[in-house]
Amino acid sequence: MEGRIGTYVALLVGLWVLQHVLRAFKSPLRPIPGPIYTNFTRLPLKISIITGTRIHYIHALHQKYGPIVRIAPDEVSLSSLATFKEIHRVGSPFLKTEWYAKFAFDRRPGVFTMSNAREHAARRKLFARAFSKSELRRVWEPVVREKVGVAVGRIREELEAEGVADVLKWWMFLATDVSGRLMFGESFDMLKLGKKNEYIRVLEVALVGSGINVELPWLGTIGRHLPLPTVKTMFRASDYLMDYGKRAITNSRATASQTSRNIFAGMIEESEKTDATLDEVDVVTEAGNLIVAGSDTTAITLTYLVWAVLSQPQLQRALEEEVQQLDDGFDDAALEELPLLNAVIMETLRLYGAAPGSLPRATPAGGVTFHGHFIPAGVTVSTQSYTIHRDEALYANAERFDPSRWMANNDGQQQQQQQQQQQQQQQQYMAFSPFGAGSRICLGIHLAWMELRLATAEFFRQCGGVKVRTGWEEMKMENYFLIAPVGHRCEIVRDS
Ligand code: HEM
Repeated sequence: MEGRIGTYVALLVGLWVLQHVLRAFKSPLRPIPGPIYTNFTRLPLKISIITGTRIHYIHALHQKYGPIVRIAPDEVSLSSLATFKEIHRVGSPFLKTEWYAKFAFDRRPGVFTMSNAREHAARRKLFARAFSKSELRRVWEPVVREKVGVAVGRIREELEAEGVADVLKWWMFLATDVSGRLMFGESFDMLKLGKKNEYIRVLEVALVGSGINVELPWLGTIGRHLPLPTVKTMFRASDYLMDYGKRAITNSRATASQTSRNIFAGMIEESEKTDATLDEVDVVTEAGNLIVAGSDTTAITLTYLVWAVLSQPQLQRALEEEVQQLDDGFDDAALEELPLLNAVIMETLRLYGAAPGSLPRATPAGGVTFHGHFIPAGVTVSTQSYTIHRDEALYANAERFDPSRWMANNDGQQQQQQQQQQQQQQQQYMAFSPFGAGSRICLGIHLAWMELRLATAEFFRQCGGVKVRTGWEEMKMENYFLIAPVGHRCEIVRDS
């Protein structure tokens, strides 16, 4: 009897292997360069995702196989500027894949996860004014400035009291308080309390749950039914988050003079006049999503900025000098004029932008030919700015943190040299994509820039001469969709 069961099992395994081998041989992706095993299995890719090394795994494959590489039986990664521009252009037929819908823990698709181009365009249009640079400056700049002031004050206090301060922690509190205020109309007061509130704790657990759900949906299904509170929260957080998010609706109805007014103010009414829909459930969903999209992203980028600048004392002194020249009442418009400050932010976004991983899109009907290889319709193709931003042909000494690559340097240069430099810079700008590109470019790009500029200026004005204590070993990037320093902190100390 036992022998017969063994034979059946062996037969089933044999059939399974045969099916995969046959499918691999027939696959239209077979001629695309890539490791042989990616014809059969996505296990190594899954392992890289679960271990937080996906950007590194894909980057290494591009270094070995070139600008087009098969990373799984049904997925291709591309790293050339031409393919990036084709996939992410405005009006591109390459739409977001199912992956986004699985990633979301909301009840309806929001602006981040929608794949239908018409629905998405209508939703983006509703948000366009509120997230424009002029409107953000007019309505929200004072809020951001006030919170930046508090954050840098708390960093200084911690330095005074303990001799050391963790900037990652304070930038997280800053970005989350700003997001909470804008999306919900209420600050989470994390800067004041110096610790996370319950909403954020649930959100963090929910994000881990949603990440697991994408890769291992069966684990999510089991988790939802386990009698363990934390695990349940992980997979059922949306109920709690929805309850909390209802405040976003109440505060979206606040009038211009009320301090609880949030970024959705007037949007529900506005949507009623157009064919775009935005009801209360949508507001709750979007508020939750925007907090996720806008908090860690900005905080992580700011953390790497401080680390990178403090790692080059000469650059630190030059930046400190530049921001010391500002009037005390400086604003974001004044900061936009500072060459070094903006170049430092560009360079940070190039090397350490918080979302440098694959942005998956589906190939359109009829398929496409990239680098001489035909890819049929419905295949996932993705580009990662981590690799594009490290392309030596686009960025000389690509691994070096060098803000001067973004600055005009015409001193003593021949006309020909100047032209060459301009051409090089044009290419750099074209390939620069820390916020994605095209119709799906980051909605919060102007808010992110405003926060980055204000926080960088305030930090280097108030914390002159500080030193970084955390080394590269702890700052190396782990990657769970966003990046983060593996050590989950970035400590600075006073100059002794
Ligand atoms: C340094 C900070 C930030 C970085 C590096 C960043 C990066 C990105 C990237 C790469 C995308 C494209 C995703 C894709 O195509 O799949 C994106 C989209 C998005 N981001 Fe950001 N982001 C930042 C800050 C923010 C902020 C502050 C907000 C809002 C408060 C925000 C809201 C969004 C939304 C809603 C989308 C989806 C847009 C759409 O599909 O139409 N982000 N972001």
